[in-house]
Amino acid sequence: MKLFILLASLFLTLSTVSSSLQQYQAIFNFGDSLSDTGNYLLSSARPFPINGKLPYGETFFHNATGRCSDGRLMVDFLVTEESGLPYLPPYLGLEKDQNVSHGVNFAVAGATALDPEFFFRRKIGSSLTTNYSLSTQVAWFKKLKPSLCSTKQECDDYFQNALFLVGEIGGNDYNYPFFVGRSIDQIIAAVPLVIKAIIEATSALIEEGAVELVVPGNLPIGCSAMYLTFFKNSKKAFYDETNGCLKAFNTFAEYHNSALKRALWFLKLKYPHARIIYADYFEAAMPMFVAPQLNGFSRGSLTACCGGGGPYNFNISAWCGRVGSEACEDPSLYANWDGIHLTEAAYRFIANGLIHGNFTTPLELTSSALIAIGLIHGNFTTPLELASSAVLQLGHLQSMD
Ligand SMILES: *[C@@H]1O[C@H](CO)[C@@H](O)[C@H](O)[C@H]1NC(C)=O
Ligand SMILES: *[C@@H]1O[C@H](CO)[C@@H](O)[C@H](O)[C@H]1NC(C)=O
Ligand SMILES: *[C@@H]1O[C@H](CO)[C@@H](O)[C@H](O)[C@H]1NC(C)=O
Ligand SMILES: *[C@@H]1O[C@H](CO)[C@@H](O)[C@H](O)[C@H]1NC(C)=O
Ligand SMILES: *[C@@H]1O[C@H](CO)[C@@H](O)[C@H](O)[C@H]1NC(C)=O
Ligand SMILES: *[C@@H]1O[C@H](CO)[C@@H](O)[C@H](O)[C@H]1NC(C)=O
Repeated sequence: MKLFILLASLFLTLSTVSSSLQQYQAIFNFGDSLSDTGNYLLSSARPFPINGKLPYGETFFHNATGRCSDGRLMVDFLVTEESGLPYLPPYLGLEKDQNVSHGVNFAVAGATALDPEFFFRRKIGSSLTTNYSLSTQVAWFKKLKPSLCSTKQECDDYFQNALFLVGEIGGNDYNYPFFVGRSIDQIIAAVPLVIKAIIEATSALIEEGAVELVVPGNLPIGCSAMYLTFFKNSKKAFYDETNGCLKAFNTFAEYHNSALKRALWFLKLKYPHARIIYADYFEAAMPMFVAPQLNGFSRGSLTACCGGGGPYNFNISAWCGRVGSEACEDPSLYANWDGIHLTEAAYRFIANGLIHGNFTTPLELTSSALIAIGLIHGNFTTPLELASSAVLQLGHLQSMD
């Protein structure tokens, strides 16, 4: 009852916000290869990374920039087309005294939400392509902050118009174990930890002054050429007939997403002044897989544009850019770029959905929302409660290996 009164008083003080994404003066991005605009390449974690040469970057920049695509990424569209800002400079490429007032990109391809120690303890640390996990990226931001604003008032004013994109991040925390053949039980057990890492990073940014935050969920990984190739199955029942994707992996992505959304509600309760927006990458991307032709992907959305053969044009021994691989003639007709990353056309499609569709919803502390998540008139459910239907479907995964 006490909680209810507290919440009820919250509703009264909250002004309603209509538009989901607005124009910003600055954007700070955290994440992995879905939004890395050069950090991985600059970190030179490995010699001659493939995203450092063509055909990566062939479409728009006509040169490899370190983006894992043929061209621009979602973050590029959000920054330039929606906010009219210059492309975000990658953090690791900043020069001394560079003016970063319009924002910075901290994302690193291969990055995980959990720290590397987690993977080293589980003997898959050697698979990691970078150690620059989410907490490192947040530490970079803290280090940079004094060059953005100094007094409390100055920082408050500055952050009022600054957007923080926290992710997509977490996808790699599952990709690594899935591709070394870890059991689904082990991977499901990691979900609460991955969510916790994302929430901790988001809290840390709010504590630093962020008030506008977008936290995206995972993409439908069951539609990725790499998953479709690795987990190919002769049983038709494993595939979703509406889109040809692997059902169990999409269910897993949705499980992560619903756990994340739930955890974000708890974060919103803790920081009612922050505008926390969940970005539904999964649903925003889905029309592309369900109706590729209608959405301009005339070569289909499952087959990679650039690859080394096989039913989905994905061959781990002939990765896009390596000997034995070839890029398609026109990447704009494909959604999948290199097996795991998407084409510029696909990123544009999803970004459009996020900007113009209803896939970015600011969490609002309304009574109906709180009832829906079980905070009022219900039991205090944990953020990580697993819907029973999801559990049933996840059973399929186990029978796949
Ligand atoms: C292309 O990118 C490479 C590094 O990725 C850089 O050294 C080169 O100068 C770039 N070329 C052009 C024409 O921008
Ligand atoms: C940085 O750039 C912004 C916007 O272009 C400008 O308003 C600001 O004065 C610049 N800061 C410095 C220290 O030059
Ligand atoms: C990550 O850190 C570990 C331990 O310090 C090191 O052995 C490994 O080479 C690092 N990995 C990368 C990709 O930098
Ligand atoms: C995958 O690539 C390797 C190396 O180029 C090649 O030997 C093999 O035949 C390819 N597999 C398929 C299915 O195309
Ligand atoms: C979002 O829009 C789609 C159709 O454009 C509709 O089916 C769906 O119910 C909407 N979702 C919400 C939460 O409004
Ligand atoms: C709350 O939990 C109890 C015990 O688990 C259960 O019996 C009851 O039906 C639940 N109530 C609601 C509203 O979910």
